[in-house]
Amino acid sequence: MSPDAFVGLEGVTHLCTGGESPWMKSHDAVYTDFARLKSLGYEGRGEVADRTEACRKKVARLWKVPADRVAFMPSASEGMNWLARGLDWSAGDNVVTTGIEFPSVAYAWRSLEARGVAVRRVPHCRWRVREEDLLAAIDDRTRVLAVSQVSFYTGQCLDLRRLAGGASRRGVLLAVDATHASGVVEVPANLTDLCVSSSYKWMLATHGVAPCYLSPRAENRTAATCFGWRNLVAWPRERMEALPEVPVRPMPEGMEPGNPSLVSVMFLSNALDVLLSTGMDRIQDHARQLSARIAAGLEKLGHTVITPGEASARSGNTCFLSGEAGRIHDRLRNRRILVWGELGRVRISGHLYNGSRDVDRILKALAGD
Ligand SMILES: Cc1ncc(COP(=O)(O)O)c(C=O)c1O
Repeated sequence: MSPDAFVGLEGVTHLCTGGESPWMKSHDAVYTDFARLKSLGYEGRGEVADRTEACRKKVARLWKVPADRVAFMPSASEGMNWLARGLDWSAGDNVVTTGIEFPSVAYAWRSLEARGVAVRRVPHCRWRVREEDLLAAIDDRTRVLAVSQVSFYTGQCLDLRRLAGGASRRGVLLAVDATHASGVVEVPANLTDLCVSSSYKWMLATHGVAPCYLSPRAENRTAATCFGWRNLVAWPRERMEALPEVPVRPMPEGMEPGNPSLVSVMFLSNALDVLLSTGMDRIQDHARQLSARIAAGLEKLGHTVITPGEASARSGNTCFLSGEAGRIHDRLRNRRILVWGELGRVRISGHLYNGSRDVDRILKALAGD
C-alpha cells in the first residue's frame, strides 16, 4: 500500500504505528457519509446500525470467529477489565500474566489483589517471555492466563496456540490483548476466551472502539457489571417506572451497555476492507521481513535488540534498549522519521505502507549519517 494513501506522509518516514497509525485519506469519505446519515434522524440511525453489523462481520472474518461473539468496546482497557470485574472471584484464586505488560493488562488484574486474588507476574528471560514459564505458573487455583499477543515493549509475538492448549486443559480462561497484533499478524481469537484490540494502531482506524471477542465459556462465567438500554432485554412499557428486574442480553449486545462510537466503527469498517483485501498472511510476512531487516541493521550498529530472532516470534514492532530513547526519538523526528522512544527502549514499527527505503533511511539516520 502506498504511503500516498495516507494524510501527511509526504517526505515522512512513518515507523510508529505501534503508537498511532497515520490516517487513511479514504476515511474522509467515511466521515462525509456518517455526517449525512447522522442528519437523517431515525432512518439514518438504522443505516448506521446496518453498517455496524457489517463491521462486526468483517472483524469476525479477520479473527476467524462468529460475528455474534464480537462486541464493540470503547477501548482495549475496557475489554480486559470486563473479564476482571465480571468473574466470580474467591480469595486464593490467581491470575497468571507476564511481568512486562502494558497497564491495560497489568492493572486490570492488579486491582483484584485487594480481594485476595494473587497475580503471578512471570518474569522475562533476557527480554523474552517463555510460553513454558507461563504454563508452569498455572495451578489448580488459576482462573485466567492474561497476555498481550504482541508485546508493546519488546515486539515479541507469543505462541497463542501453545498457551491456549495448556490453559484450556486446566480449565483456565485465556485473555488476550491483541492491540499490537491485530492488523499486522494473524490473531487466532478463536483459541482465546477474550480477545480485544484497540483500533487506532495496526488496525488503521481510530480511538473510541475496540473489537472484543468473548467465548461462550467466558460468557457463562462472567456477570455483566455495566448496564444500559442496549445490553438489557427491553423492559415492559406499562411497568417502565417500576424498573423491574430484566436479564442481560447475550453476546454481542450483552457487552455493549450503550451505543458504541458509531463513527469510529465506520472508520474501522473502512480500514478492515483494506486489511482483508490485502490479506493478513501477506501483511504478516511483509512486517516480519521488515522487522528482520531492521533488527539486523540495528545489531550491526551495536544496539541491543530485544525483539526475538525467529520469524514466528516477530511482529511489526522491532525494539532496542537505550538510556537515550527520548533523545533518539527527538533526533529522528527532526529528520522527519517517526518512531516511539520511551521507557528505556526505542520501538520501530513497520506496517503495510513501509518498505526497504524506510528501513534504509532509519538505519542511516541512526548511524549518524
Ligand atoms: C498492549 C496495549 N494494550 C492497550 C493499549 C491501549 O489501548 P486502549 O487505549 O484501547 O485501552 C495499548 C496502547 O499503547 C497497548 O500498547
